[in-house]
Amino acid sequence: MPLLRVDDVVVQFGGVTAVNHANFQVEEGTVTGLIGPNGAGKTTCFNVITGLQAPTAGRVFLDGKDITRMPVHRRARHGMGRTFQRLEAFGSLTVEDNVRVALDVHNGFRGLLRDVDGSADLEIAALLDRVGILEYAEERADSVPTGTARLLEVARALACDPRLLLLDEPSSGLDEAETKAFGSLLLELAAEGRTILMVEHDMDLVLRVCHGIHVLDFGSIIAEGTPAEIRTNPVVQKAYLGYSDDSSAADLDETIAAPVSEEVAL
Ligand SMILES: Nc1ncnc2c1ncn2[C@@H]1O[C@H](COP(=O)(O)OP(=O)(O)O)[C@@H](O)[C@H]1O
Ligand SMILES: [Mg+2]
Repeated sequence: MPLLRVDDVVVQFGGVTAVNHANFQVEEGTVTGLIGPNGAGKTTCFNVITGLQAPTAGRVFLDGKDITRMPVHRRARHGMGRTFQRLEAFGSLTVEDNVRVALDVHNGFRGLLRDVDGSADLEIAALLDRVGILEYAEERADSVPTGTARLLEVARALACDPRLLLLDEPSSGLDEAETKAFGSLLLELAAEGRTILMVEHDMDLVLRVCHGIHVLDFGSIIAEGTPAEIRTNPVVQKAYLGYSDDSSAADLDETIAAPVSEEVAL
C-alpha cells in the first residue's frame, strides 16, 4: 500500500481550476518528485495533502486512512511535516530557538519536563548539524542567507519526526555545494524509512535523488515514472516546451534529454 494516495482531487478557485482530477501515489521510504511548470497546481496539491486547502472534490489517503477532512494539526500528529515555498521561520528568534519551538510543540508537556537535563539542546544541535547549518545556531533567523533559512525549515520539520515530509521548492536559494549535500540528506532520510514528496525546479536534483517523479500540467498528472523515463518522455518535453519561447525551447529539450549532470530551472 502506498503511504500517500491523492485520489481524483479537484480544486477550483472561482473560475480557475488549479487542480484538475489529479491522481498519484507516493511509496513509503522513497523520495518522490512532483514537478511541472509554474501555475501547474503543485503548491495547491501540497495544501490539499497537508489540509490547508479543502479540495472541491476527491480524497487524500495517508497509510490507507481517508484524511481528506482531517484538520492540519491532526495530520501533523499522524506524521506529516512540511516546508513552505515562502519562508515561514520566526525571524526574531535565533536559528536554534526556531527548532526549539518545533521540538517543544512536538514533544508537548513531557518534552518540556525532559528538557530539565538539557537533552533538547543536544537534539537541536544534532538537527542543525544534520541539515548543515549548526554554525548559524545563535544567529537571528531573519539575518541568515536564504539557503540557510530554507535548511532551517527542513530542520524544524524534522524536529517533529515526520513519517511523510513535504518540501516545496527546498533547493531555491541553495548554492551548488549546499544542493549536493541536501540531495544526500534526502536520500539518507529515505534510507531511514521516511518518505519525502518534493516540489522542485532544479531538474538536476530531481533526476539525481527521486525514486519516482509525477509531472503535473494544468492541474493534472500528465506523466509519471523513474527519472530515466521522465527525462525521455515526449509528453513531458512537450509540456515544458509549450511554456518556453523558441530560443530556450532548444535548451530545455537538450537538458531534459541530456545526462543528469545538466542543471536547469524549468
Ligand atoms: N488562493 C488562490 N486563489 C485563487 N487562485 C489561486 C490560489 N492559489 C493558487 N491559485 C491559482 O491556481 C493555479 C495553481 O497555482 P499553484 O498551485 O500555486 O501552482 P504551482 O505551485 O504549480 O506554481 C494558478 O493558476 C494560481 O494562480
Ligand atoms: Mg508553487
